Amino acid sequence: MNSSPVDATTTTAWNKLAAHAVNFTPDLRGWFAAEPERAEDFTAQVGDLHVDLSKNLLTAETRSLLMQLADEVGLRERIDAMFAGEHINVTEDRAVLHTALRRPAGASPALHVDGQAVDADVQAELDKMFAFAEKIRSGEWKGITGEPIKTVVNIGIGGSDLGPVMAYEALKPYVQSGLEARFISNIDPTDLAETLRDLDPRTTLFIIASKTFTTLETLTNARLAREWLWRELVASGSEIKDDDSRRSAVARHFVAVSTALDKVADFGIDPANAFGFWDWVGGRYSVDSAIGTSLAIAIGPENFRQFLGGFHAVDEHFRTVPWSQNVPALMGMLNIWYTNFLGAHTHAVLPYAQYLHRFPAYLQQLTMESNGKSVRWDGSKVNTETGEIWWGEPGTNGQHAFYQLIHQGTRLVPVDFIAVANPAHPLQDGDADVHELFLANFFAQSKALAFGKTADEVRAEGTDEAIVPARVFSGNRPSTSIMAPELSPAVLGQLIALYEHITFVQGVVWGIDSFDQWGVELGKELAQQITPAVSGDTQALEEQDASTRARIDYYRAQRR
Ligand code: F6P
Repeated sequence: MNSSPVDATTTTAWNKLAAHAVNFTPDLRGWFAAEPERAEDFTAQVGDLHVDLSKNLLTAETRSLLMQLADEVGLRERIDAMFAGEHINVTEDRAVLHTALRRPAGASPALHVDGQAVDADVQAELDKMFAFAEKIRSGEWKGITGEPIKTVVNIGIGGSDLGPVMAYEALKPYVQSGLEARFISNIDPTDLAETLRDLDPRTTLFIIASKTFTTLETLTNARLAREWLWRELVASGSEIKDDDSRRSAVARHFVAVSTALDKVADFGIDPANAFGFWDWVGGRYSVDSAIGTSLAIAIGPENFRQFLGGFHAVDEHFRTVPWSQNVPALMGMLNIWYTNFLGAHTHAVLPYAQYLHRFPAYLQQLTMESNGKSVRWDGSKVNTETGEIWWGEPGTNGQHAFYQLIHQGTRLVPVDFIAVANPAHPLQDGDADVHELFLANFFAQSKALAFGKTADEVRAEGTDEAIVPARVFSGNRPSTSIMAPELSPAVLGQLIALYEHITFVQGVVWGIDSFDQWGVELGKELAQQITPAVSGDTQALEEQDASTRARIDYYRAQRR
């Protein structure tokens, strides 16, 4: 592997793209009129995902220059390095092997990295997680009072929360009846209080999910949950009065997921009830590891295997398919075009699938914690813009909120629409199939963005001349449409892997380490330093800057 990244701006393709951008005049109406094959030419398939890129602002020439850029920055070599377990997470000196989590049992040749038999370890941990999931699902695992578990509460934050909660919400139709998962992440005590409010401690299982098992929010919430369990068991008539009975209660109602199993034991959770993973799995890439235990319990091992199979299908596609049909490469390079050549600052993901309502939030960590960097992996400063701001909400809600800006604002906002052909709830409103009403909106939005409405078209509707300008839609607003037959576990795995690899592609072009997250550390450190000041330590208060000191004074004066 190269010891320093290629500076993309020095490549021939980059310079050609810059020249191409100067006179680039998007004309989706004209392009579709002139190229009858455009829709087909710019559509590709990955797994079950049918991806239409044709309403994006690119020509065949743009695409071929972007593919040339992918070659010149060594994307192929970087992909191979990642899959092979090279330490491409340079600043943490780690391999990046989330793709190994979804290799099928018996994959050949077996993967060995840094002396570890990766496949064997992954399968062993999966088997352990699945066996536990089955015990909960079948009712064999009993709480301290002998009752089966009905509610699983995952306590984690960031990658130890966003993936599990997003996937649980997305796959609700696959959740076993009588079982429920809830999620606590925020250290705001409201989160825990509201989540536990109506729960029965006798039928509740906590999963403490933390890669490091040091995260302040998670460990604080885990301790609070333990107190809650003891207190509420007593309140419901259980004899929890000595250390032994407290320990037994924790053993039946707490399990953990972590790479730091020693710290799990320190917390009082039996290592037999802990599920591990490895430091080569980044937090935001970990939903397919034991971090997904809450999901595995809810949807069951078979569905979880389908979920993993979905990831793997996209991994294989990404690793082997030529750029011209390689969907993560095409989408990642297209984002480079928008960010670095056409001046886009944000990227919207708008699922027309209510079950995907947490997908944009999940993608925010995946993309922005990965690519929100200003230095490259060798420490040199980047000389281009990097990570976009990712955001989104499900359609059609967004249509009645922020779509105005996407349609008529001054900013370029590339959009990814996601929809499935078969709804989980096929409802009729009279003669109307409601899913069809819904999808008509999905089709309409990408069409309106792409082709707009000219002043003459507005006039032809008899519009008063004074308001014609306000009713014109410029068109040439880019979108990608991703469709799948249904939102199955496999399709969800495919969607996640697609965006993981899009993120990777962009990181490679920018030469950054997409797998570290040093930018989250300073705030954590300062919070620790500030905590004594907030609690009234005058010396700690004196050490603060004037603004922070004044804010803390205000808090202390107001606090009842
Ligand atoms: O602070 C950011 C972060 O480190 C994320 O990268 C991670 O997903 C999250 O915190 C939670 O970390 P952990 O799983 O170690 O508790």
